[in-house]
Amino acid sequence: MRVELLVPDMPTAAELLPWLERIDANRWYTNFGPLAGELEARLREELQAAGEKPLFVTSVSNATAGLELTLAALGVKPGARVLVPALTFVASATAIVRAGCEPVVADIDAGNWTLTPAIAQAACARTRVDAVLTVSTFGVPHEVAAWDDFSARTSIPALIDAAGAWGNQRCNGRTPVVFSLHATKSLGAGEGGLIASTDSAIVSGVRRATNFGINLDASAPTPFGQVAQPGTNAKLSEYHAAVGLANLARWNERATRRRALMAEMRTRLAALPGLVPAWQQGDTSLVRTLLSFGVASGSLRDAIEEACALAGIATRRWYLPTLDRHPAFVTCERAGELPVATRLCETLIGLPFHLHLASADKDAVIVAVERGVARCANTAT
Ligand SMILES: Cc1ncc(COP(=O)(O)O)c(C=O)c1O
Repeated sequence: MRVELLVPDMPTAAELLPWLERIDANRWYTNFGPLAGELEARLREELQAAGEKPLFVTSVSNATAGLELTLAALGVKPGARVLVPALTFVASATAIVRAGCEPVVADIDAGNWTLTPAIAQAACARTRVDAVLTVSTFGVPHEVAAWDDFSARTSIPALIDAAGAWGNQRCNGRTPVVFSLHATKSLGAGEGGLIASTDSAIVSGVRRATNFGINLDASAPTPFGQVAQPGTNAKLSEYHAAVGLANLARWNERATRRRALMAEMRTRLAALPGLVPAWQQGDTSLVRTLLSFGVASGSLRDAIEEACALAGIATRRWYLPTLDRHPAFVTCERAGELPVATRLCETLIGLPFHLHLASADKDAVIVAVERGVARCANTAT
């Protein structure tokens, strides 16, 4: 493709070198090493709001493992039914299945495209729900207090899959938040993740589970070095922590550029006659990693995709098909009809969005979309 869809924004070898030299000096490569500790401390600092409850964090090898282990740390047992939005990356459901639980698919809010506490509440009235895994879809954050309130009212634990929402999702409550540090995310470490909550027991439970379940707390009832609850190996290596730290040094500048790029593309797409993009609601200051919007019809989407392909411009229907249409999840129960997700399934389109887009690339995308719109209009008349 002449214009790539998504190009990770990772540190250069020169930016990484000082961190790699620290690994050489430490001779510590994984198992809660000093760089993983420093990354955790720095990310915690970014997330901790002044005057709010102290926050606890732990790193993990990737967000999918983080979600699975967080479900377990919340006390969600195998066989539990976990509500999950239809519009999400498959990893949300993978984590539920890997935890031995059953996904129950819910619709999303028509405005912000997320599974809200109100939708979860309605689902609970219809079917048995033992836990909720909601998603900060396309980077749009949840209000943690609203989920804390939902859990307090219903006794149903919730967790937030904020894999793609670093820079947007706050962590100011008990409901745990899981971030991804995958290379394609706004803050990439290659692979990696972070779990944050004001509840230290949840976070220490996840931390122990990332290290086979081995108890390293001398004050815990389980003898030191022994396992009461088997975990897995999901630790963040020092090499990944090094990449995360090198990337964090560039965060503010990159976040500003991502905001500006999204504002520019939205303004230019909105100005195209006949397109009328349907945007997900959310603050325009959000740091985005994907450019995804709805169009008026499936045939318009086909025409835009075709025009882009002809021009060598990559497109992707992000998070589609919806979960309920994947062969692996087609038999999962749905908590009612899924009209919003179904409509988006027919009309969502993703265009190139990354910090390596040159001016000419952006112009080419706009011209191709314009051509697609014109072709669709000609076919219709
Ligand atoms: C919503 C969502 N959940 C989970 C994941 C998985 O994250 P990771 O690759 O760190 O396992 C992703 C990654 O794209 C995602 O978008």
